[in-house]
Amino acid sequence: MIGRLNHVAIAVPNLAAAMAVYRDGLGATVSDPVPLTEHGVTVVFVELPNSKVELMEPLGDASPIASFLERNPGGGVHHICFEVSDIRAAVATLQAAGARAIGGGEPRTGAHGKPVVFLHPKDFLGTLIELEEA
Ligand code: CO
Repeated sequence: MIGRLNHVAIAVPNLAAAMAVYRDGLGATVSDPVPLTEHGVTVVFVELPNSKVELMEPLGDASPIASFLERNPGGGVHHICFEVSDIRAAVATLQAAGARAIGGGEPRTGAHGKPVVFLHPKDFLGTLIELEEA
């Protein structure tokens, strides 16, 4: 069902400092920040030869990563994203097997402008999983 690893997302308290870690410390190519108002985060993408790292900083008062950063003040891995060819079919299969999709499994438009669904970490070894149709 799942295909390529699309990205690993890391929640950070300070995006500029996080960008410097990857750009200056690790020598990676880092995109310009993109504010995603409807998702409550500002993101940059670290381009790797085989995948991406997404660095996310809270945006606005009701950011969905605010409580994560309260538990992990220095930042931490927030979710991993796998590509699927048909997101509705993938979610239907997983839900039929008992997995919980956040928001009922209705796809939303993600950071790359493609449909995404998040799966509950309690069903996937403590890891929040994002599926992206690609
Ligand atoms: Co993501």
